[in-house]
Amino acid sequence: MPTNAEWQKRFERIMPWGSGTCSKAPVYAPEEPAVIVRGSGCRVWDADGREFIDFRNGLGPVTLGYAYPEVDEAIARQLKDGIIFSQPSPLECEVAETVCRMVPCAEKARFLKTGGEAIAACIRIARAYTGRDHIVQIGYNGWLNSLAGGARILPGKTAAEYPGGVPAGIGELHHGCGWNDTETLGDLFDEYKNKIAAVTVACDYADAGAGKTFYPFLRKLADENGALLIFDEIVMGMRIAIGGAHDYFGVDPDLAVLSKGIANGMPLAVYLGRAEVMDTCDRNGRAVVSSTFAGDALSLAAAKACLAVYEREDVVGFLWKQGKKMWDGLNGIFKRNGLGIKTAGLYPYGAFVFEDGGLAEPFFRAAYRNGVCLYGSASYMNFSHGDNDVAEALERLSKACGEIKK
Ligand SMILES: Cc1ncc(COP(=O)(O)O)c(C=O)c1O
Repeated sequence: MPTNAEWQKRFERIMPWGSGTCSKAPVYAPEEPAVIVRGSGCRVWDADGREFIDFRNGLGPVTLGYAYPEVDEAIARQLKDGIIFSQPSPLECEVAETVCRMVPCAEKARFLKTGGEAIAACIRIARAYTGRDHIVQIGYNGWLNSLAGGARILPGKTAAEYPGGVPAGIGELHHGCGWNDTETLGDLFDEYKNKIAAVTVACDYADAGAGKTFYPFLRKLADENGALLIFDEIVMGMRIAIGGAHDYFGVDPDLAVLSKGIANGMPLAVYLGRAEVMDTCDRNGRAVVSSTFAGDALSLAAAKACLAVYEREDVVGFLWKQGKKMWDGLNGIFKRNGLGIKTAGLYPYGAFVFEDGGLAEPFFRAAYRNGVCLYGSASYMNFSHGDNDVAEALERLSKACGEIKK
């Protein structure tokens, strides 16, 4: 087996940005693993045999734990019967029914593979349903939808102008807007009166609490202007509440996408919402959305097993409970060491906030060096983070903070 350093060289030679997923390409090597070769529960191992307690969780989708037996056994059973067919698998209907039972705003549902693709489907539906072209976007909604000048192009990265490769004519129909920026939203709805088809919104991590007033504001604004609301629940769904932010804050969108929480890491996204709006992609072809891999049986078998765990056990409650121990504990460590760092947001994840931006790199490097994988914009709890894992992670991070204090 090649070492981390050897893998890194090979990646850089063959692959622009060092990975097909920009946020996975290591930025803090050699402390950060170049590759992960195995995961189990809440721990992962790299090519040099180092073990880490992991809070990156595959960038969010591993909500139950790596190699979670119940989900893996469902995948293995389905594998014997086939991966994908030329008519739908019964699983496609069953999982859609389950999701619509569990998620408050869901009357009808369809599947795709990635979160960004499913948001693009919702945008297509909203344009066809309203007969309007303009879209307002709040937060990151996947690379495919990063079309507005000055808007998010990756989690935590903003484009200065129209992102490269986006024709101005397309970019002009998309408008980026900040989280909880009610003034800019009001201005956009004035400037593009009766032209805005939908507002897509991904809940901010660090300032999620503002959703309490922001989501009702968005609902009212959209209703008053005949626009639709599309909630990007790709991260928040099955994490802060079963339905995500709309479930947590009690405000229903017209359409929503869940993805990272539904299949414990198998690639699956579900777009769902009001039946009348979802029916825009009916057989009349008012809005055509279709993909060969949309309803593959393996991902759906994983989703069926994963959602059964969520229905049987209080997974979301567990993420809140363990997150409180983890992020309150870590904030105590930062305070005791006099470091200008804190985690913010809701307990199922921790969003890192650096009063002193210069501390980010030494902190994440020290965390990796001491065997903890973290992610700046949001580090996630999973259902396999037991009390002993949280205590051990805090011990390792206490050592890391001691090192950077020096
Ligand atoms: C809030 C949010 N929306 C959309 C996406 C895009 O999902 P995908 O990478 O599956 O296209 C992401 C991915 O990180 C995300 O965090």
